[in-house]
Amino acid sequence: MRLQNKVAIITGAGGDLGRGMALRLSEEGAGVMVNDKNLQRAQETVRLVVENGGRAISHGADITRAVEVKEMVDQVLKEWGQIDILVNNAGDIRDALLQNMTDEDWDFVIDLSLKGSFVCARAIAPYMIERRYGKIVNISSLAYKGNFGQSNYVSAKAGVVGLTQALGLELARYNINVNCVAPGLIDTPKTATLDSKVRERLIQKTPLRRMGDIKDIANAVLFLVSDESKYITRQIIHVSGGMEGF
Ligand SMILES: NC(=O)c1ccc[n+]([C@@H]2O[C@H](COP(=O)([O-])OP(=O)(O)OC[C@H]3O[C@@H](n4cnc5c(N)ncnc54)[C@H](O)[C@@H]3O)[C@@H](O)[C@H]2O)c1
Repeated sequence: MRLQNKVAIITGAGGDLGRGMALRLSEEGAGVMVNDKNLQRAQETVRLVVENGGRAISHGADITRAVEVKEMVDQVLKEWGQIDILVNNAGDIRDALLQNMTDEDWDFVIDLSLKGSFVCARAIAPYMIERRYGKIVNISSLAYKGNFGQSNYVSAKAGVVGLTQALGLELARYNINVNCVAPGLIDTPKTATLDSKVRERLIQKTPLRRMGDIKDIANAVLFLVSDESKYITRQIIHVSGGMEGF
């Protein structure tokens, strides 16, 4: 029970990786706010956590909207009175080559991954500062190093790396660790829709010659939000089977 008496907020936790994190962190004792714009998916995660013996509540805040994030934070404080952990996980893609990428594709991806992480960190950090304790983990992607047809996603995820390094500096004096997990090719329903040739090419580029699974990401996040990593901050952990770029 490494996270006994801790309270975590995980964004996008109705999704595949976020759900895995909610299950893993709650197994270690954390109370988890499962935030997801898709409230039905959030509620399903809560059901699975509770079935597994854990504690969780849900909220449907759109993380790009500060007013909604504040309501979500207020709900956590009302329920548990503190916030120890924030995992900025919500993210999505709108792929297109440069000439075909619309303003809407660009704004959607940047707003969700980058602005959403900023909005949540800004809303939650004061409660961590007050208690001189906090762990923030931002979920980037190995794509932050560059990938075809993803200039919006690559920029957002590189931004998340920058945000980690900036907030890590600003918040270190308050004993708040800020780190980043950059997943490589992870076996989720979304990556199952990849063209089989593309998937095979990526597996061949992965030194461990296999896809990662949801638990690999959840375990990395668990390490970074536990006190076993208390001297680690401003780091980017590649959970990618050794792959260094797509
Ligand atoms: N799956 C992978 O292989 C992989 C690889 C690298 C990085 N990532 C990153 O990991 C994170 C999770 O990915 P996933 O595969 O679980 O995605 P997912 O689509 O399964 O889950 C993302 C969740 O975010 C929610 N969401 C979308 N917009 C939101 C908003 N404005 N406010 C609140 N919630 C919102 C969605 O409803 C969804 O449930 C993302 O940031 C993604 O970029 C995933």
